[in-house]
Amino acid sequence: MCGIIGYIGEKKAQPILIAGLKNLEYRGYDSAGIAAIDKGRLRIARAKGKIRQLEKKLSERPLPGTIGLGHNRWATHGLPSEENAHPHVDCKKNLVIIHNGIIENYLPLRERLKKEGHRFGSDTDTEVMVHLIEKYMNLGLETALRKALKMITGSYAIGLISRKDPGVLLAARQGSPLIVGLGKGENFIASDVPAILHLTKKVMYLCDGDIAILTPSNVRIKNMAGKTQSRKVREISWDPVSAKKSGYPHFMLKEIFEQPQAIEDTFTGRVSPEKGKVYLSEIGLSGKELKKIERVVITACGTSWHSALIGKFMMEEFARIPVEVDYAAEFRYRNPILNAKTLVIGISQSGETADTLGAMHEAKKQGARVISICNVVGSSITRETEGVIYTHAGPEIGVASTKAFSSQLVVLYLLSLYLSDIRKEIFLKKMRKYILDLKKIPFLIKEILKRHPEIESLANIFYKKTNALYLGRGEGYAVALEGALKLKEVSYIHSEGYPAAEMKHGPIALIDKNMPVVVLALKGRRYDKILGNISEVKARSGVVIALASAGDKKIKEKVDYIIYIPRTNEMLSAILAVIPMQLLAYYTAIKRGCNVDQPRNLAKSVTVE
Ligand code: F6R
Repeated sequence: MCGIIGYIGEKKAQPILIAGLKNLEYRGYDSAGIAAIDKGRLRIARAKGKIRQLEKKLSERPLPGTIGLGHNRWATHGLPSEENAHPHVDCKKNLVIIHNGIIENYLPLRERLKKEGHRFGSDTDTEVMVHLIEKYMNLGLETALRKALKMITGSYAIGLISRKDPGVLLAARQGSPLIVGLGKGENFIASDVPAILHLTKKVMYLCDGDIAILTPSNVRIKNMAGKTQSRKVREISWDPVSAKKSGYPHFMLKEIFEQPQAIEDTFTGRVSPEKGKVYLSEIGLSGKELKKIERVVITACGTSWHSALIGKFMMEEFARIPVEVDYAAEFRYRNPILNAKTLVIGISQSGETADTLGAMHEAKKQGARVISICNVVGSSITRETEGVIYTHAGPEIGVASTKAFSSQLVVLYLLSLYLSDIRKEIFLKKMRKYILDLKKIPFLIKEILKRHPEIESLANIFYKKTNALYLGRGEGYAVALEGALKLKEVSYIHSEGYPAAEMKHGPIALIDKNMPVVVLALKGRRYDKILGNISEVKARSGVVIALASAGDKKIKEKVDYIIYIPRTNEMLSAILAVIPMQLLAYYTAIKRGCNVDQPRNLAKSVTVE
């Protein structure tokens, strides 16, 4: 997730681009850059860090020009650095591009272009695009862009300008958000409305496959075949604050709704259902080295620890390797037994959690192989480990983790399949099926999200309660823990997650008509057992809210409320099941008047022990 903006008009581009980037900082902030063309000269300024670093540079040497592009980076390919910051240029420095998304086939393209003599200045996937366009410039800018786009696979929202053609700004979209803003004598492109809301309220949302051709006085949209398309002009009524949240009242809700995209971005480029293959070269260990691993330890804190628990189920199921899960703070101080045949995996959204960082350090010291799963490129934990598999969830602003959690589950699923392939524990046919199941998840999450009013009405039961119990078995137990954590941290209602079978060994004493009990009761190997646990709760007058598989009629007469979710394979069910849990916590907290984005006493990054 990065932020992009482009301007063409009569005003100075630089202040418009910088103001737009500031309003898009929530989309990425590890580096930023702008480019502008003036009197046939193309100038670029880029800086690592937040936008104020870029502003510092520009204060010494401003960029003149009335056409330009700007970019906030959230690193995916290549570390955060000035070289990897956008915009990127072609060899002759005629063309300049900005990009949000992931080019899946950039490596073979890069190799080919290099052989043809193109010189690359960054490690990014983006740069191949500008060189490809350069290659076809004899066809003219628009056709060259179209030709290049046809050669790439992946997702993109791009802006492109040319020193030789400063009267036009081109943009294109496939799978990443992009809007066109309409002004008087000026036009804009941006990833999102907040970038340009102070300049115009008239926007067009581009569709996949659209190419927009902007001049100061005109905007034309064409498809990949060059045929003109018409796109509706919408009047935006949001105020600037709600615009940063894309119209959502809170970042937490926005991030819950961003999960289909975050998940897609996380598996894009890493799977081939046709070949039945998962690609995770960034793991940092060769197949030979991974074959030597006899045991895995996953360590993390909080929500990331819950994803580790689910990872254990996935890895043991698919790769048939023993997995332990430990709280990072416990792991690092208990003299764990580790050696070169142990793979230690640290999971962290922020990459800065002190306990997880300490655990990685300890594991390395004791001679284990150490990798991480992380959302922030270049963060401390990633620098401590041999390999990093990044989640591509984009910046998570709400303190309660949502989209980072589901993206971590995607990486754990991919890693489990990858290990199972290396260890020859899986047949090709099954591998293909599991990959196809994963590809359907974004769509299935959208289906669940559409039913948010149902979950909002359930919050009416919760918001006056002082306690709640969440029960589940297997992966459902980990989701119960996560559901309970979400509820307690944003609504301040005391809630506990428990393995459903353990309830009768103590917590059952708490159950009465005032105790809502959320039960993860999806179809699968533990379904009948969970129905038994539901009966135990009902026999003590507990109020049961069941999370059930679509089409399950049997459960209806046993419980008080049902949230149905679509069916998928058991190992992916947690990704779907957690969505209603997040929504329930959110709506309950809102009804209680809580500050969901910044709950009391919590911090987004816990850098103390
Ligand atoms: C809960 C939450 C925390 C974090 C924990 C670890 O919603 O966000 O429990 O999961 O502090 O943080 P990371 O993943 O950044 O290491």
